[in-house]
Amino acid sequence: MTPLKMDGSHILSTGSAVPDICIDNDLLGTILETSDDWISTRTGIKERKILAQHQSIIDLATTASKQALDKGFLEAEDLDLIIFATSTSNDLFGSASQLQYSLGAVRAAAFDITAACSGFVIALMVAHQFIQNNVYKNILVVGADTLSQWVDWSDRTTCILFGDGAGAAILQQNKTNDLLSFEINTDGSEAKQLCINHKRNFNNTIGNDQLTNLPSNSHYQPLQMNGKEVYKFAVSKVPDSINKCLQKVDLNSDDITWLLLHQANQRILETVASKLKIPTEKVLSNIQFYGNTSAASIPIALDEAFSTGYICHKDTIAIAGFGAGLTWGSIMIKWHAFE
Ligand code: COA
Repeated sequence: MTPLKMDGSHILSTGSAVPDICIDNDLLGTILETSDDWISTRTGIKERKILAQHQSIIDLATTASKQALDKGFLEAEDLDLIIFATSTSNDLFGSASQLQYSLGAVRAAAFDITAACSGFVIALMVAHQFIQNNVYKNILVVGADTLSQWVDWSDRTTCILFGDGAGAAILQQNKTNDLLSFEINTDGSEAKQLCINHKRNFNNTIGNDQLTNLPSNSHYQPLQMNGKEVYKFAVSKVPDSINKCLQKVDLNSDDITWLLLHQANQRILETVASKLKIPTEKVLSNIQFYGNTSAASIPIALDEAFSTGYICHKDTIAIAGFGAGLTWGSIMIKWHAFE
């Protein structure tokens, strides 16, 4: 008898977490020259959730991951690998090991992926490779970001957009494959359009010429963005990327049950949907509650879509991430409720 081929990736379960502190547009209007009308008309955002002083990104990621483990009836010890997509790590060496420890996932290898708002999509693709190659069976993929700590809260052109959060999904090896196709892109020449640059300072007061190259008080600058260019980039590249993914598996946009885009701006979601001729009822959106949570936005929306019963057996979900790098990429999913 031929052994059963087990090289598919199944989305077993999901989880999500956002902080309790809610900053709505009116509250922002008390510290910035802005208004609820301006922000909601241009972005669709009504409020965002911000990390409390006593909380860390690991707290959010742990809560989201525990939910995913519980819903998937798995123990932390069952995890073989943790991939932590974040660009706001609380340790420059990476946060995945802290998450592994916090969960007690003692058997799991763990590493970070830094790819901003495309991070979760890229992490899913990486996890899928390990499963297809029969290396790991249970992989926790987490997208979490706390950009509230990296924006300039006096810059109304950027800070109004972002919020904090975490989302998690467990990918499990299965004979039925949920991940139909994917594609990923990078254009480093446009990195300056959205960045958090490192600023190197040098100590020139030491008085020893050989030591003037010793860095002193180096730090990261606040998030910088050319909003118009990023907007144009998103609405031109994302439809193309989704179309490529559809073509790879002989589908067209009519076959899509749900369009799940990185939650950057409601107008971007609607423009991409319109370019793909996908009706707005099929567009998953929660941006009004959270703003742009970077790597967390897709897994949070995915978790909400599963929890509310929107996503059903054999639904086709087109997922696309895009953002700093510039990076963008898509995954086509056909979700199966059972083996
Ligand atoms: N409140 C009130 N006015 C604001 C404002 C705010 N928060 N931010 C900017 N303005 C002002 C500007 O100063 C400008 O005033 P001016 O005409 O007197 O110069 C005016 O509003 C228009 O600004 P502009 O930058 O042209 O607005 P826009 O229509 O391009 O919208 C964004 C700005 C940021 C909402 C939009 O460009 C965008 O969403 N881009 C994509 C950003 C994104 O998604 N980034 C993350 C990707 S992962």
